[in-house]
Amino acid sequence: MRTAMTQAPVGDDVWGEDPTVARLQERAADLLGKSTALFVPSGTMANQIALLSHCDRADEVFVGDGSHTVFYESGAGPAWAGVSFTVVGRDGLFTAEQLVETIRPPDQHFPRPRLVAIENTHNRSGGRVFPQHDVDAIAEAAHARALSVHLDGARIWNASVATGCPPATLCEPVDSVCACFSKGLGAPVGSVLAGDPDFIARAHRYRKMLGGGMRQAGILAGACLHALDHHVERLADDHDNARVLAEALSSVDGLSCEPARVETNIVRFEVTSMSARDFVALAAEQGVKLAAIDRRRVRAVTHLDVSAADIREAALRLSRVI
Ligand SMILES: Cc1ncc(COP(=O)(O)O)c(C=O)c1O
Repeated sequence: MRTAMTQAPVGDDVWGEDPTVARLQERAADLLGKSTALFVPSGTMANQIALLSHCDRADEVFVGDGSHTVFYESGAGPAWAGVSFTVVGRDGLFTAEQLVETIRPPDQHFPRPRLVAIENTHNRSGGRVFPQHDVDAIAEAAHARALSVHLDGARIWNASVATGCPPATLCEPVDSVCACFSKGLGAPVGSVLAGDPDFIARAHRYRKMLGGGMRQAGILAGACLHALDHHVERLADDHDNARVLAEALSSVDGLSCEPARVETNIVRFEVTSMSARDFVALAAEQGVKLAAIDRRRVRAVTHLDVSAADIREAALRLSRVI
């Protein structure tokens, strides 16, 4: 990847002159089944630009429970786009019926319903794949009510590998999609926002307003192209490793883990014998890096720098912590 970065031809992307960024944008648009894509520094910026490009201030955005945009983007949606969020369903996923029940009739007292945001895979719920029949039905219900649909597909590659469904098929019913090349794909920086040309023209302007226009960004896009070439299919290894870890943790007294819930590269488990925070601190002393989701629950993520042998060792060390 570092070699690809140093060899990438570059130009000034603020002026649209970087050939490697252009190549990545075309490739990503094609893979995601949209006509246009825009390279941005992060998934957070892609989601925020999507809110700005779809919504006016005071509009209402429907999201799943624990959505990244609500939970982990520092309150940026209300701050920059001026939107309010309404949560639909529980634990990340929801159905078209739940969405329809939540949308209120037009009334001067209510915010204007404008956007539905789906997250696939869903981070906080433990990397779950959003069932495609629900995505299809949600998009149909949203469009019938003149709402747009944004897909936070930071890990759409994981959803694709887990289901065997091409990313373009997963993104087909939605109007815009964010996808990341960092995280599981291993690039140091980089995400895209994809959609139709009008949407991307608005997004381009907001990227500039947020300071996301980059100059010789081809060195970063080169890493992302390398990730697409070499690091997508191998996500299946991360999924296998996550299942192995979950199996091992499920037999440790003091932890509660359901291997059947592991669908991709995230393992979510509960610590029953101490606080999640204490467990994470003790695990770090053992050289195993985890994140506390809340008081009880912990998240482990597998990725391309973690081997099957590392997983066995991590499971052993975590059982020692208990
Ligand atoms: C579902 C989801 N969306 C968006 C993001 C934000 O990506 P970034 O860290 O590149 O801002 C993340 C990061 O973990 C995520 O899990």
